[in-house]
Amino acid sequence: MDRRLALRSTLVTLAAVALAGSGHAQSNAPFKIGFILPMTGQSASTGKQIEAAIKLWQAQNGTTVAGRKVEVIVKDDGAVPDVTKRIAQEMVVNDKVDVLAGFGITPCAFATAPIATQSKTPMIVTAAATSAITERSPYIVRTSFTLPQATVPIADWAAKHGIRKVVTFVADYGPGVDAEKFFKSEFQLNGGQITGEIRTPLKSPDFAPFLQKVADLKPDAVFVFLPSGQGAAFMKQFGERGLDKSGIKLIATGDVTDDDQLNDMGDVALGVVNSHHYSAAHPSAMNKKFVADFQAMNKFRPNFMAVGGWDGMHLIYNAIAATKGAGGGDALLAAMKGQLFESPRGQILIDAQTRDIVQDVYIRKVERQNGQLWNVEFDVRKAVKDPGKAK
Ligand code: PHB
Repeated sequence: MDRRLALRSTLVTLAAVALAGSGHAQSNAPFKIGFILPMTGQSASTGKQIEAAIKLWQAQNGTTVAGRKVEVIVKDDGAVPDVTKRIAQEMVVNDKVDVLAGFGITPCAFATAPIATQSKTPMIVTAAATSAITERSPYIVRTSFTLPQATVPIADWAAKHGIRKVVTFVADYGPGVDAEKFFKSEFQLNGGQITGEIRTPLKSPDFAPFLQKVADLKPDAVFVFLPSGQGAAFMKQFGERGLDKSGIKLIATGDVTDDDQLNDMGDVALGVVNSHHYSAAHPSAMNKKFVADFQAMNKFRPNFMAVGGWDGMHLIYNAIAATKGAGGGDALLAAMKGQLFESPRGQILIDAQTRDIVQDVYIRKVERQNGQLWNVEFDVRKAVKDPGKAK
């Protein structure tokens, strides 16, 4: 396509997206939620977890809210941003969805933000976690977490527990850059020293050369963020290179000791201290029921992605009820701001100003209990707002 034609086709699509946005709220038509998730490719576990959570939510809470039938459409973007954007356009223009949801990785959320704005469609981010995502559209609301939120507590814990020199080790894109930056500033503020900063490619990473660098630098600890799905491969290579026996401690965000893969990681994961907003071992009555019901429907344990999806459904159902089934982008958005409810992870709040999630962040240690590996919570930072919004 030449550039003029391409521009014209973009303008036509934009006009269709904007028009479609004003045509929602037909109260006898089903209320449609369009989930765009990675069901294939290296982030497929995120799609699998969130889809399972949506099914469990609807099995337990029904498919009618305030007299309105609720229909969920799930489409696979393979975590490719251009594909996410195209699917979002089709969902808004053709399917006339009332809400967009999902977004397995940050670039997919970024690519879709303009569609949410132009069509005035609430866009619920249930997975991706770069701080800046919610600033890309006034229609974005997040039920997952942010990397600064998950990282600051482990940096603070490390500095107060005898760790002086740290090498940071992160995936080289939005959430990794957030994790590196916020670990560094919090750790240095508490007297720690960063002796190396390593970034690994997002796609098909080979960790070996980067782990060799960690071994050569000999820090007290290596702090790791890798997106959900890469933790087991990392742990395997960490063990194979003997780093678990080198005296270099491994600390991380809970994305690395991911409940989706934790049980397959073996002894190398034992004792890893990490911080995150959700553990399948969270000892509340609500979470025990959530994990038991989830495992009765699936052959795997829920991870933090499943909980982001579950709470996304909860948020949307509450908003439909608040509009008495009428929906409408702006009315739904208004109903989502300031929502406060109990989640399997603990109490959560949608900050009305930032539309981002406020939640407890736990410090956990991987332990074997009854023959299985778990992230066992032993300390908590209450009601953490995204530190990335403070600037
Ligand atoms: C992201 O791309 O924003 C992302 C993906 C997986 C995670 C965390 C962040 O575990």
